[in-house]
Amino acid sequence: MLTSLDPPEVGDDGQLKIYPAIVLEKQSVKCQNRPVTQLLIQWSNLSPENATWEDYSALKSQFPDFDPWGVSSFFQFISLAVTAQEEKMTKCYPTVSEEYQKAVEKAKRKLRGLIAEKNCAPLMLRLAWHSAGTFDVKTKTGGPFGTMKQPTELAHGANNGLDIAVRLLEPIKEQLPILSYADFYQLAGVVAVGITGGPEIPFHPGREDKPHPPPEGRLPDATKGADHLRQVFGAQMGLSDQDIVALSGGHTLGRCHKERSGFEGPWTTNPLIFDNSYFKELLSGEKEGLLQLPTDKVLLSDPAFRPLVDKYAADEDAFFSDYAEAHLKLSELGFADA
Ligand code: HEM
Repeated sequence: MLTSLDPPEVGDDGQLKIYPAIVLEKQSVKCQNRPVTQLLIQWSNLSPENATWEDYSALKSQFPDFDPWGVSSFFQFISLAVTAQEEKMTKCYPTVSEEYQKAVEKAKRKLRGLIAEKNCAPLMLRLAWHSAGTFDVKTKTGGPFGTMKQPTELAHGANNGLDIAVRLLEPIKEQLPILSYADFYQLAGVVAVGITGGPEIPFHPGREDKPHPPPEGRLPDATKGADHLRQVFGAQMGLSDQDIVALSGGHTLGRCHKERSGFEGPWTTNPLIFDNSYFKELLSGEKEGLLQLPTDKVLLSDPAFRPLVDKYAADEDAFFSDYAEAHLKLSELGFADA
C-alpha cells in the first residue's frame, strides 16, 4: 500500500525506488554478546505496516545521506539516541568451530612457554602492533590479517627485526595449521602483555589471512611530532588521542636496538614488566641509560596528550583499563565490523 499521494519515484529499471524515510523506534539487540543498534525504518512510498528493523551500521553504509537525527524524522521527539560509544562498539564476531577454539587455547599455552623461555614479550608485542597498525580506515586495507609473514612486509624499514619474531613463532604455527596467521600474531601480542603483568585483553578469534601486504610507510616515524601521530593513529587507523597515549605505554616493554631502528636503549629500568613506569619515567625527565623517542616526548608537550600522561603515571589501574580498550581496538581494526 502506498501512503504518498504523489506518484511514487521509480528507477531507470522501472522498479519502485525506496529509501529510509522515518525512524519509528530503536532497539538494541545482542550479537555475539555485543550490543547492536537496530532502527525500525518506515520506507519512502511504503506504509508504516511495511516498516522493517535494520542494523544501524548497515543502513548507514547503504544510505550514507540518510540522517536519522534529521528534522524530518521523529527521532528528536522520541530521543532515540544511538550513542557514539555504542556505534563504535558495534562488532559482530564470527563463530569459529570447536576445533578452532581448541587450537586458540593450545596456541595460548605454547606462546606462554615460548615467551617465558626466550624473554621475547617485547618483540611479540611489537609484531602484533606493527601487523595491526597498517590499517587504513578509508581503503580498508592493511591491518591485522597475517601479511607480516611475507618477505615484502618484513622488508619495510619500520619492521626491522620482526623477522626474528616470525621465525620464533613458526614452530608453534606449524603445529596449529588450522589457525590463521592473523589470529596467531594478535594472540601473541595479547599473551605478551598478560604474561609480563599487564592487563588482560579480550581476544576474539576469526580473522582471516589476507593475501596483500600494505604499502610501506603507514607506521609512525619516531622522529616526528603530534600532528604525525594524529595522522597515523587518528586519520589512518581511526583511533583517538586517548588511544595514542595509552598505546604509547606499550613502550613499558622492551627497548630500541641501534641496528634495527637507529635508536638504542630501554624506556624503563624493568623492560620485561608491563606497568605504568613508562609514564613515570617520561615525567621524571631524561636519564642516563634510558631513552625517550621524539614521539614519546611529544606526549608531554601536547596539551591534549599531557593530562593523560599525568593520569597514567599517577594511576596504574586507569592506564591498564584504557590500554586494554585501546589494544583491543588496535587488534581488531578492520575485523568483525558489523
Ligand atoms: C607512537 C608511535 C610509535 C613509535 C614512533 C614507535 C617506535 C618504536 C621504535 C623506534 C622502536 C625500537 C625498535 C627497535 O629498535 O628494536 C620501538 C620498539 C617497541 N615498540 Fe614502539 N613505537 C610506537 C608505538 C608503539 C605501540 C603503539 C606499541 C604497542 C602497543 C609499541 C610497542 C613497542 C615495543 C614493545 C617495542 C620494543 C621491541 C623490542 O624490545 O624488541 N610501540 N617502537
